[in-house]
Amino acid sequence: MSQGKRVGIVGAGNVGATVAYSLAMLGSCHEIILRDNKIDVAKGKALDMSQAASAVRSHTVVKVAEEMSDLVDCDVVVVTAGSPRLPGMSRDDLLMINAKITKEVIQGIAKYSPNAIVIMVSNPLDAMTYVALKESGFDRSRVIGMAGILDSSRMAAFIQEKLGYGGGQIRASVMGGHGDDMVPLPRYSTVAGVPLSDVLTSEEIAEIVERTRHGGAEIVGYLKTGSAYYAPAKSTAIMVDAILKDTKQIHPCAVYLEGEYGYSDVVSGVPVMLGAKGAEKIIEVTLDEKEKSMFAQSCASVQKLIDTLKKNNFFEGK
Ligand code: 2OP
Repeated sequence: MSQGKRVGIVGAGNVGATVAYSLAMLGSCHEIILRDNKIDVAKGKALDMSQAASAVRSHTVVKVAEEMSDLVDCDVVVVTAGSPRLPGMSRDDLLMINAKITKEVIQGIAKYSPNAIVIMVSNPLDAMTYVALKESGFDRSRVIGMAGILDSSRMAAFIQEKLGYGGGQIRASVMGGHGDDMVPLPRYSTVAGVPLSDVLTSEEIAEIVERTRHGGAEIVGYLKTGSAYYAPAKSTAIMVDAILKDTKQIHPCAVYLEGEYGYSDVVSGVPVMLGAKGAEKIIEVTLDEKEKSMFAQSCASVQKLIDTLKKNNFFEGK
């Protein structure tokens, strides 16, 4: 139990509130501060969650920041603020609108919680992580995007569904950007240590790869008025918990690359060691030619979004 730790969450919509709830149930931190323009809704959710924390004898208290300036001295800040994805929209359609929101939020975080580790959740995830890094001026180890844990969890759930067994014993691996050309890695996915190719046919594996790539859209298609939030929030809470408890666990996360995998000045999902200092280490796994080319395509898609922001003078003065 990490006494005295404070986590800020910007955006108390479905994802933000569910991150707060997961953390409150885990008792990962002493205090959670919700920041949302809908102050009364945030206050209601905060009270409700503090009471749920009491019910499970967790010491976590959930509060509300009425202004960004109330989000002070946080150890970790999770950013979920932004326009959600609606049916028919790609994550990239949200680029300009969410970049502006991210810029404003990050400037507030840099001012009031200058030592925080920032976890980005807003879409398009990799580009928003890039924006957050540039706007904060933080070291790249302190600006991390949540996507790989979510995408890997989706892949694991689809493997379990296909097999009809193995629940809790599946380790799936997804790298690359959080877009339609993400890179699911069946070669690095196992069921109780057994390679996927020993328990599933190549057609079945291909089906799982495709479904993983469109896992977010599948849920948007059902919900219609928004996107998934239970798995995105739980994945975020896993990252926050690993940082607060300094576990040094390896998770796929979106980070700024400086030569790793042969890429620089772009954000992509790669295995990262999470600890008290954030993304403390980037792990370079061996990729075969096909995997390398898929990773290249995914990085190129993220690069295109960053280039669009640059063309629109988004980073002027940076
Ligand atoms: C998801 O994958 C929308 O990025 C979000 O569910």
